[in-house]
Amino acid sequence: MPADIERKGIILAGGQGTRLYPITLGVSKQLAPIYNKPMIYYPLTTLMLANIKKFLIISCNDNLKLFKKLLGDGSHLGISIEYAVQDKPNGLAQAFVIGSTFIANSNVALALGDNLFHGEELVSKLRNANSRNKGATIFAYRVNDPKRYGIVEFNEEGLVLNIEEKPKFPKSNFAVTGLYFYDNSVVNLAKSITPSKRGEYEITDLNNIYLRNNLLNVEIMGRGTAWLDTGTFESLHEASSYVKTLEHQLGLLIGSPEEVAWRKNLIDNKQLKILARKLNKSEYGKMLYRLVKDI
Ligand code: DAU
Repeated sequence: MPADIERKGIILAGGQGTRLYPITLGVSKQLAPIYNKPMIYYPLTTLMLANIKKFLIISCNDNLKLFKKLLGDGSHLGISIEYAVQDKPNGLAQAFVIGSTFIANSNVALALGDNLFHGEELVSKLRNANSRNKGATIFAYRVNDPKRYGIVEFNEEGLVLNIEEKPKFPKSNFAVTGLYFYDNSVVNLAKSITPSKRGEYEITDLNNIYLRNNLLNVEIMGRGTAWLDTGTFESLHEASSYVKTLEHQLGLLIGSPEEVAWRKNLIDNKQLKILARKLNKSEYGKMLYRLVKDI
């Protein structure tokens, strides 16, 4: 069922990426490569697959220039992209305060700029989340190191009891991933919360408010979906290897906004050819070009 309330998308691409120093001393983490494309292509593509067409990218002032150079106003992809500054990484929930004018009366989805999702079941899950006009949808994924994440607590019947941010004693192994769908009330809720003990406006606090109001939908992402973290050298390398292996096996790109724009008819064959031609010295450009030639 298509959503009758428009949903806009925010990509949060701030933070200092200190765990990736020295890579991120000179460049934003979300512009670092995951195999053959900048990291931000992946969350952008994920939100485009959810049928979102209007985007806001939030980052610090210096890095916004680089994102603008890379993605412009989005018109070459048949989408619109606006930009906003977050002076300090004060917490994920700030995205809805900074983005309140952009969101206006719409629903909204937030993707963290360093989260990579891929898999068969993804598109239908995104479509379902997008079609829910009321409440929130978040995604939980099994992890080995639950102390690093927002963790979902379930009761014996599998009902969600609570979400705890970076728990010392995790109540499950199900982490909340960096992809969140909210109705418009998230804007006022985000304005109402106060910083946590670690000094951040926590998205987990917002999710718990939706939970207490019986408006939180927690979708489990199973083995059919990959959720890749890119926070450390190790995980950055693993994410690149994952994309490389799949792309070579399939002969198709993973996380290409140009391809998704074309498949969603946001751009036509001619426009895709123009985009591909600009990149034709790279294998990425050649793979885009082959898409049009294949049909
Ligand atoms: O990755 C999923 C996890 O993301 C969730 O399980 C947690 O509940 C959630 O709090 C968050 O935890 P992290 O510790 O991974 O968040 P981190 O501070 O690393 O920020 C995630 C990304 O968002 C990172 O690329 C930097 C960016 N960011 C972060 C903050 C706090 C911003 O752009 N602005 C911010 O204010």
